[in-house]
Amino acid sequence: MVTQVVWGRAASIHSEHIPMQYGHFDDENREYVITRPDTPLPWINYLGCQAYFGIISNTAGGYSFYRDARLRRITRYRYNNVPFDFGGRYLYVRDRESGEFWSPSWQPTRHEPESYQCRHGMGYTTIGSRYKGIEASTRYFVPLDETLEVWQFTVTNRRATPALLSVFSSIEFCLWDAQDDATNFQRNFSTGQVEVEDGVIYHKTEYRERRDHFAWFACSAPLAGFDTQRDAFVGPYRSWDKPVAVERGESGNSIAHGWAPIGSHHLKLDLAPGETRQVVFVLGYHENPRDQKFDPPDSQTVNKRTVKPVIAEYLNAANADAAFTRLRDYWESILGICAVETPCEHTNRMVNIWNAYQCMATFNMSRSASFYESGIGRGLGFRDSNQDLLGFVQMVPARARERILDLAATQLATGGAYHQYQPLTKRGNNDIGGNFNDDPHWLIIGVSAYLKETGDWSILDEPVPYDNEPGSEQPLYEHLQRSFRYTLDRLGPHGLPLIGRADWNDCLNLNCFSDTPGQSFQTTTNKEGKTAESVFIAGLFVLAGRELAAIARHRGLADEAAGYLAEVEKMDRVVHEHGWDGEWFVRAYDDFGRKVGSNECAEGKIFIESQGFCVLAGIGLEDGLASKALASVGKHLATEHGIVLQQPAYSRYYIELGEISSYPPGYKENAGIFCHNNPWVIIAETRVGNGDAAYEYYRRINPSAREAISDLHRCEPYVYAQMIAGKDAPTHGEAKNSWLTGTAAWNYYAITQWILGIQPSWDGLRIAPVIPRGWKGFKATRKYRGVTYRITVARAGDGNKVSLMVNGKPIEGEVVAAPAAGQTEVVVEARLS
Ligand code: BGC
Ligand code: NOJ
Repeated sequence: MVTQVVWGRAASIHSEHIPMQYGHFDDENREYVITRPDTPLPWINYLGCQAYFGIISNTAGGYSFYRDARLRRITRYRYNNVPFDFGGRYLYVRDRESGEFWSPSWQPTRHEPESYQCRHGMGYTTIGSRYKGIEASTRYFVPLDETLEVWQFTVTNRRATPALLSVFSSIEFCLWDAQDDATNFQRNFSTGQVEVEDGVIYHKTEYRERRDHFAWFACSAPLAGFDTQRDAFVGPYRSWDKPVAVERGESGNSIAHGWAPIGSHHLKLDLAPGETRQVVFVLGYHENPRDQKFDPPDSQTVNKRTVKPVIAEYLNAANADAAFTRLRDYWESILGICAVETPCEHTNRMVNIWNAYQCMATFNMSRSASFYESGIGRGLGFRDSNQDLLGFVQMVPARARERILDLAATQLATGGAYHQYQPLTKRGNNDIGGNFNDDPHWLIIGVSAYLKETGDWSILDEPVPYDNEPGSEQPLYEHLQRSFRYTLDRLGPHGLPLIGRADWNDCLNLNCFSDTPGQSFQTTTNKEGKTAESVFIAGLFVLAGRELAAIARHRGLADEAAGYLAEVEKMDRVVHEHGWDGEWFVRAYDDFGRKVGSNECAEGKIFIESQGFCVLAGIGLEDGLASKALASVGKHLATEHGIVLQQPAYSRYYIELGEISSYPPGYKENAGIFCHNNPWVIIAETRVGNGDAAYEYYRRINPSAREAISDLHRCEPYVYAQMIAGKDAPTHGEAKNSWLTGTAAWNYYAITQWILGIQPSWDGLRIAPVIPRGWKGFKATRKYRGVTYRITVARAGDGNKVSLMVNGKPIEGEVVAAPAAGQTEVVVEARLS
């Protein structure tokens, strides 16, 4: 068990610009400990990992939602605020004798604390501080299998005299559809409704008509008062830093009719010197059966009989503690699936804790809800979610299976796919549509990762509709066939895949030609799209084709498999002929048939994607092109902060290239360090046997290894950010857009499966490490298909040749086959020479 609060050293929070860290890792507890509240950016965490989710910053900012950040938002959040992070799960402590009040999470009152500490852990966050001798901290978490969040508030009087305190809670309810909530005030200021019963605040806006769900906010202590109308609590012309009810020390007992429903409890706590008290607050989401919405049935009063047992359970402190222990155990077992002990602490920490944890978040959220993704814009991305499986599939394979089937159901009959879908409705988003020509192949990559991990071949026979059309169901396997076919039906003048709206690089919009401000680069298509081609998709096609061929072979379809391989060979030849520029792979051909990413170009001569992905897919391994391409990456793209996307950066807008040239040099896709594609090069380096380079690139963007430069990096040191500003940017080395990025899955995949080389394969666990020459070896435990593999790797020479001993006996090759039935432990000793 973790102690609720371990007090950090008091730090002055106003000494700006002094290079220093903002906290430290506590690996034993799997926590990051933040010791001053004014981190360069909000450093956040996720609560919940199944259906109820919350985002919480180190100063208790953030919001909650059920399944879908847009369609079922529970609490309100104002994005892009000043300060950046404002509004959240705030508690206020008020000294009833002096009238002074403050917030133990620092925000929103920002009183300088005597000490402060935030512990972000696996699915929970504890934030506390000490002010004028009063220690107060709150542990926030979402119990497993519940649709609620618990706030365990602990307060201790460290004064020599009694403390007469008031505590106020506060949350602001959303009107469910967060997009509508932020725009449609003429309606929403009139629809808000609440009920208050036994001290529990029920938010029931729109419940009277078509909703069968409501939110509730409860408190374990007897109330001195409450508020449900924001204006009554905050007061006109005021904000959360100075709510009038807190200042006055008295709630208004307000009942919201329209305007802005909130939840606030007021309780009084009198503490003797040294005394500690705990109070539990619980915020929940509940659904009633359609025909039992009201109680009595002919009334408009919410039926609370179904929710009351849940409320009672979690208001009980012992039950809340037990739920927390279950959450800890859950993460203990998830993280036990792959645990490593290497000579590098940053590697260990990321693989064993934070990178795996981030993979859960990206699996759950895709790119929908973070402090950089508003939750109202994107649902789940087709390509994103498929790639996220690479880092998630081993954690909860059953959920990976469900996700694959959901994704495949949004595929179109052409083999193409909706680019995104909403998690609540599971329908494709019409606003964005399809025609991103890389999308379908990622389904093959996702399914192949699932099969290699689980050996569950039955998934291929699952009937899955196209575009969710009832009656259109075909086995999942056919979806994969159509994915592959999609590209063959869309080849360009050089025989390379047509790019469509964009490939992996959403900002390389070769058919867009937009000259109208505000037009979407992704959905505007002013060209026919019959000319612009993508060498990146060619690489992806080669990789996906090889995987599909292996799947076909496994299904006994040898001829079909040979057919796929023939197409792969053909594409490989086309890439050699039209996709090679002399020193590196070309990136694309534009609508005029001119090369993009070639020495012939004035800017954007070399791109990372085609180098990393073509080599990763195996192109050019035999004839030296792969090594040449990687040498060019080292020469032109590598920096001390990671590998930039292309060089030279675009210095102006090119209408024929689109969004990529809309970013100032060094940011995002215009020569930023786009951390998602760095692991492609890392894997490529392992494919040419260069463990030193692979690890070095891995280390450069490893967030833990960058902790010491937090003042430059600025984002959380425990998770990857999408982007680090490139060498052309004035802020080179500064990270942006943390958490929701394919970087998480790809780095996890690169380090565990390619550098450490513990690789699920069709027929067993393959062990093929390509580690730095300086490493003497490493140890790992991997749970795979019900068996625990205890792996020791030892270096006996400089190379990557593997000799394996399994349970003390030498075996041929690199694949450890499944042991005899009933045997659940296998010892693997690998020797590298
Ligand atoms: C970003 C891309 C992103 C795309 C999604 C662009 O503005 O630069 O990274 O994939 O939006 O719609
Ligand atoms: C972020 C998007 O989520 C992803 O789909 C895309 O591949 C990258 N940006 C690169 O543009």
